[in-house]
Amino acid sequence: MTIHFIGAGPGASDLLTLRGRDLIASSPVCLYAGSLIPEAMLEHCPADARIINTAPLSLEAIIGEMRNAHAAGLDVARLHSGDLSVWSATGEQLRRLRELDIPYAITPGVPAFSAVAAALGQELTLPGVAQSVVLTRTSGRASAMPDGETLANFAKTGATLAIHLSVHKLDQVVEELVPFYGGDCPVAIVWRASWPDERVVRGQLSTVASQIDDSLKRTALIVVGPVLGSEDFQESCLYALGYDRRFRPQSADSPFASTAVGDVEDQT
Ligand SMILES: C[S@@+](CC[C@H](N)C(=O)[O-])C[C@H]1O[C@@H](n2cnc3c(N)ncnc32)[C@H](O)[C@@H]1O
Repeated sequence: MTIHFIGAGPGASDLLTLRGRDLIASSPVCLYAGSLIPEAMLEHCPADARIINTAPLSLEAIIGEMRNAHAAGLDVARLHSGDLSVWSATGEQLRRLRELDIPYAITPGVPAFSAVAAALGQELTLPGVAQSVVLTRTSGRASAMPDGETLANFAKTGATLAIHLSVHKLDQVVEELVPFYGGDCPVAIVWRASWPDERVVRGQLSTVASQIDDSLKRTALIVVGPVLGSEDFQESCLYALGYDRRFRPQSADSPFASTAVGDVEDQT
């Protein structure tokens, strides 16, 4: 018996891993995290599965369901949106399960920022422009930001920022970022990436607040940084003619000529 924590992706019902789908199909109990899990994903559950929306439940009640399933020897599919590694509230569930000695496993999912990059049709790291993406948020009622994890501190790096859970505080985000990125820095707000009603708003830090209305104030991600829309970037060496690498040694003298695949890790 195992509690299977499954990343259910950003919203589109077919952005689920095959492993996740098969685990849902083989688990007699499914606990899913409310509004961000598409109903169509629950169609993978067995016909007689016990299916519970955990949005209105307390942590105790959720763990209670898991304990009952464990006592009955039933596998559980536990669905959370996106991937489980960020803002999934799985940390406290996993800790309780460790205390209770209930076995669990984690199946990753497609995170929202990946679906947002896909909606924008671009890479978030471009050579010579930005090579880091900061996944962050602003303080919320449920979780305050630790000291030091301020937008200003991240902005000092000039990296691409993917700001979650904050679109309702866009004015504050803009105010904190303009001193570092400038008012003309490109911004994109992607609402419900990968859902059928996905919307994309592109603008600049100085103008973006006037471009959105209340209909976009939930389940949206703010992306900020000069990579957005940039055509002025270097090409990576990876596919450059003449670049010596293990899959394309350039001469018999190349250090890669006799290197077994897997010996050299750096590809770029
Ligand atoms: C509680 S966090 C969940 C993050 C999730 N675990 C992940 O891997 O992306 C919810 C926030 O993620 C972002 N988000 C989730 N799904 C999204 C989507 N389909 N489109 C845009 N942003 C999304 C929004 O910023 C939303 O407020």
